[in-house]
Amino acid sequence: MNVIYAIDVDFMSFESSSTIESVLHEQRVFSPSLDESNKCRISGLNSYQKMVDEAQVDPIKFWGDAARKELHWFEPFTNVLNWNNPPFAKWFEGGKTNISFNCLDRHLKTSNADKCALIWEGEPGDVRRFTYKELHSEVCKTANALKSLGIKKGDLVALYMPMVPEAAIAMLACARIGAPHSVVFGGFSSEALRDRLIDGDAVAVITADGGFRKDKEVSLKPAVDAALAGNSCPNVKSVLVVQRTKADIEMQSGRDYWWEDVVTPQSSDCDPEYMDSEDRLFVLYTSGSTGKPKGVVHTTAGYNLWAHLTFQWIFDIRSDDIYWCTADVGWITGHSYIVYGPLSNGATTVMYEGVPRPSNPGAFWELIQKHNISIFYTAPTAIRAFMKMGRAIPDEFDLTSLRLLGTVGEPINPEAWMWYRDVIGREQCPIVDTWWQTETGGVMISPLPGATPTKPGSATLPLPGIEADVVDSDGLSVPANEGGYLVVKRPWPGMMRTVHGNEKRFRESYWEFLRPKDGSYIYFAGDGARRDTDGYFWVMGRVDDVINVSGHRLGTMEIESALVSHDAVSEAAVVGRPDSVKGEGIVAFVTLESGRASTEELQTDLINHVSSEIGPIARPDEINFSEALPKTRSGKIMRRILRDLAAGADVKGDTSTLEDRSVLDKLRN
Ligand code: PRX
Repeated sequence: MNVIYAIDVDFMSFESSSTIESVLHEQRVFSPSLDESNKCRISGLNSYQKMVDEAQVDPIKFWGDAARKELHWFEPFTNVLNWNNPPFAKWFEGGKTNISFNCLDRHLKTSNADKCALIWEGEPGDVRRFTYKELHSEVCKTANALKSLGIKKGDLVALYMPMVPEAAIAMLACARIGAPHSVVFGGFSSEALRDRLIDGDAVAVITADGGFRKDKEVSLKPAVDAALAGNSCPNVKSVLVVQRTKADIEMQSGRDYWWEDVVTPQSSDCDPEYMDSEDRLFVLYTSGSTGKPKGVVHTTAGYNLWAHLTFQWIFDIRSDDIYWCTADVGWITGHSYIVYGPLSNGATTVMYEGVPRPSNPGAFWELIQKHNISIFYTAPTAIRAFMKMGRAIPDEFDLTSLRLLGTVGEPINPEAWMWYRDVIGREQCPIVDTWWQTETGGVMISPLPGATPTKPGSATLPLPGIEADVVDSDGLSVPANEGGYLVVKRPWPGMMRTVHGNEKRFRESYWEFLRPKDGSYIYFAGDGARRDTDGYFWVMGRVDDVINVSGHRLGTMEIESALVSHDAVSEAAVVGRPDSVKGEGIVAFVTLESGRASTEELQTDLINHVSSEIGPIARPDEINFSEALPKTRSGKIMRRILRDLAAGADVKGDTSTLEDRSVLDKLRN
């Protein structure tokens, strides 16, 4: 099959949605109070601008100084940035470090040794706390256990875990012995897990019998068994299983080991591996426009610095903060802002196994009250869902411990932003709307709480050292308030290094879609944006065939592939449609094999089929049967037409390139 990895220009559009229309007319500005500014590391716009200028004038000094100051080095680096072979960057060449040392060992020599590093709350209400000393000991034991299973530096270890402390412990243990981890979100199906195990060449899987979510037991180990069935992943030699739900699961002798049996007896000393700055730290799969999900590769030192610095700047972390990010460790947000960023800074990070649910819609607020959480970081989808449920629920709780609120994962509409500020933040907490991606390793555009006046719906300004811009298809900056492609014009330490096993795809997807005439490389990963006259960025969402459902990124092509793998389906096209809570919903248009009837049962069957092929997050909200799909004469599906139809809108734009115009009428009907 001829797979085209580059993003298809025809799919791009900067058409306005209602959200975008509303943000364009947004006039409100909220400035940090003087008192608030004075307490922050980066106090006031002048301090921010000074850092921006320093990074602009001499980026090598800026990043070099930061890396020397913020990280521990076993051996110093000799070169800050090697950009001789763009887009392949090397940061902090010659240096040796280890992120687990930076997250744990270095705090043991300070007053942080007995500070709480991790507070974990299970959905049934069980709580576990780990001081930095205790977490260090657990990580060392786990690292020794991995070694005892024959896992060594360079071996890729997959994690398929519920949100339990062992997930964070396993990540840090892998990092400690230099085994890159690949965390696969526990909501993905066994098929999706198998694809990732094969693509990543995993040698082991760390999992659990199951976890608790929405008052139910979710099973995990059976999915691992299914993924490994029939020797489909011959490189996977061992499976380490945490007991969480006590479900009755099968253990295959010689392959499967209980965590309790293998980890608990180990020594709590394990010297960290001296890692080259550019040694792989992890591979994390994410969806793109085309093809299967890509294994985004992040390396040791640059990622560590970026997660560390961005966490410090954006949350202005203080010694007594209790910080909670509601993401799952299966996503980049969990990597950078539950585990690595907070721990590298010696902060207290909270992990929650569950989610708000009908039996406990106030679960989040209850947790904030119970643990005195001061910084809360969540997704706009969650905020919109809470808004819908009404303020009476959060009003039942004491949320006065909160001092800072954050959002991530999708554009936030001004209405949800204001609700968050007024109801959750008592009109007193700054909001940091953080724009970034799996590929960027950490936040790129965000307000700084003591410096940046905020506008509801805008991620505001790029962080120091990040040269972001909005450009046209020639890579030229567009005027203020015009739509364009959101790009980054210089390398930064946390940037992804490549797509695992596919350098060509890395180059073509991210760096060669827009090539300015001067031949420079600029990074583009699929978002459209506008910049206002103050230079503030307003991210409009994806302009490629990636849809963002509740902050989860899905490729339309993945869902289409899942649909056509059903024997009733001849062709499928999938588009997103605006959804007031989820951001986007999934709508599929399907043509059937001849002789197959378009029944309601088949609709349900297809929805379930997608769920079992990819995972419940990819379940289409709607399946439309159609005799034909709108195609150009060259046979390309015109998804823009389907997007309009799915949204219930008039079909906009040129339809003259349709091969058969009667298809449009049939679809309308
Ligand atoms: O479209 C942007 C959206 O999420 C995409 C990245 O998804 P993922 O790699 O899964 O990482 C999510 C967590 C960082 C982006 O291309 N996105 C993320 N943050 C924002 C956002 N869109 C608007 N505003 C944001 N703050």
